[in-house]
Amino acid sequence: MSTFEIAGDDFVLDGEPFRILSGAIHYFRVHPDDWADRIRKARLMGLNTIETYVPWNAHEPHPGEWDVSGRLDLARFLRVVTDEGMYAIVRPGPYICAEWDNGGLPAWLFTDPEVGVRRSEPKFVAAVSAYLERVLAIVAPLQLGEGGPVILVQVENEYGAYGDDKEYLRILTDLTRASGIVVPLTTVDQPQDDMLENGSLPDLHKTASFGSRSVERLATLRRHQPTGPLMCSEFWDGWFDNWGAHHHTTPFDQTAADLEALLDAGASVNLYMFHGGTNFGFTNGANDKGVYQPIVTSYDYDAPLDEAGNPTAKYWAFREVLAKFVDLPDEVPPAATPAPSFTAPLTDAVPLLSVADRLGEWTWTDDLPTMDALGHYTGFAIYQTEIDVAEPAVLSIGEVRDRAHVLVGTAHVGTLDRDHHDHAITLAPSRGTLTLLVEDQGRVDYGPRIGEPKGLIGPATLDGEELSRWAVLPVGLESLEPVREAFAPLEKPGLAGPVFARGTFDLAEAADLFLDTSAWGKGVVWINGSNLGRYWTRGPQRTLFVPAAVVAAGANELIVLELDASPSTTITFVEAPSLGHTDF
Ligand code: GLA
Repeated sequence: MSTFEIAGDDFVLDGEPFRILSGAIHYFRVHPDDWADRIRKARLMGLNTIETYVPWNAHEPHPGEWDVSGRLDLARFLRVVTDEGMYAIVRPGPYICAEWDNGGLPAWLFTDPEVGVRRSEPKFVAAVSAYLERVLAIVAPLQLGEGGPVILVQVENEYGAYGDDKEYLRILTDLTRASGIVVPLTTVDQPQDDMLENGSLPDLHKTASFGSRSVERLATLRRHQPTGPLMCSEFWDGWFDNWGAHHHTTPFDQTAADLEALLDAGASVNLYMFHGGTNFGFTNGANDKGVYQPIVTSYDYDAPLDEAGNPTAKYWAFREVLAKFVDLPDEVPPAATPAPSFTAPLTDAVPLLSVADRLGEWTWTDDLPTMDALGHYTGFAIYQTEIDVAEPAVLSIGEVRDRAHVLVGTAHVGTLDRDHHDHAITLAPSRGTLTLLVEDQGRVDYGPRIGEPKGLIGPATLDGEELSRWAVLPVGLESLEPVREAFAPLEKPGLAGPVFARGTFDLAEAADLFLDTSAWGKGVVWINGSNLGRYWTRGPQRTLFVPAAVVAAGANELIVLELDASPSTTITFVEAPSLGHTDF
């Protein structure tokens, strides 16, 4: 039976000192058909371990529901890691940050305002206990000694950057042990004295997160973890992107030199990320340090393996560095080949508002409810009320989370954007139905705004008078069947949003594709019913990644929800991704 432990200054595997050379791959950001390919490419680069977070809110989208299907099959992912001859590190949170919606915490948990966030508040602890028991029941039998790949489990995530509730960390640690986890437990914190102090307990092995100045950062870590192996649990080899900003890249030779310095210092490492993947659907998080900044759909991260699983210059540079420390397999992964490039027309369309009734149930209420209060935790909601104004009037909303299209009747009169701190708009003299189509653009994943509700936050007033008699509809987009039934031939060029449109395209064989969205406005795309995520003129990303596994030889269906306006009704696939402009 294999053993893994901490002894002296080392991790020890089967009695021998062992250096962890790990790379992060989030199973929930990669199509399951691609898991083995990505994991194998990690081994071919010289890594011996795969690290993943576990996103609680994806596994439990509503209280009591538990989803481990498809992209969420953690047990299967860990078995693929074993099959590829690698070890695994699991970081179940409950908070994971990760540029993931709400940092992985389920939004439904916070509809009760008494529930604490990331602290030893009894209601939060009760929910976390149930979650951890469930996840760790998957992980425990896949620990190394049991024939699985798991050698480390992390408690919380960068907790010292958020709180200092040691009782909370004690409860999580005891729960983890009580759930049968026997491998060493770690914590990770940014290498600052207060964070390393607040984020851990004496019986947890402290590690650090950073992407440069390794020697200095390891010295800081050493002050707080005087014994045992040094480990950088998140070596930031790239960075994430926000809509409206530039695409982040780091020079591969500089990043490789930083990695070499870390390994020269004798440390173990987890590359964050080895392969970032995609924020499919509505899974992206957001930042807010005074300005709300949602994360883009691609989680390419400028990682060694790109979003489509192809090796980059960084991959080859890291492989050369790793060759100085370990024996590498002879095999190397193939270089990227161009994806099929072609166009197809959008042929059918239907305005969102004309199918709204088929996508959810209306609720009538005098008080303005949040989306969360309606049990709707992602995507879109429609708010309607009747207005009658003879003079230009000011519509004012307490706060828009996160973007509202304002329509009177079917006429689009403006958009309120949270990232611009918009909260008021002038309405021309009008009479009829006022509609606000509100998009949750992703919940904040870092800092004090975690757990805040989405939708319209009141009061909503018209010339100072509070609006009431609201009809509110959570827009259900899990099935597009009601939209398909309503499509009619598209008879004019251009898409006047908010509108669904559809087209089909033929493929000789399934292949990874890059959908060029640069001619469209803002919206969401599905191919064969699979939600590929959001696009937006603001960029930086201009293409959406389509994994080969969601298309097939023959006819394929594309549905787009265009919210704004698109002069183009053409579907365009291009040979290579365009993640946008960089700042150098
Ligand atoms: C921190 C978090 C990660 C991720 C990175 C930035 O290290 O622990 O989850 O958010 O920052 O990509």
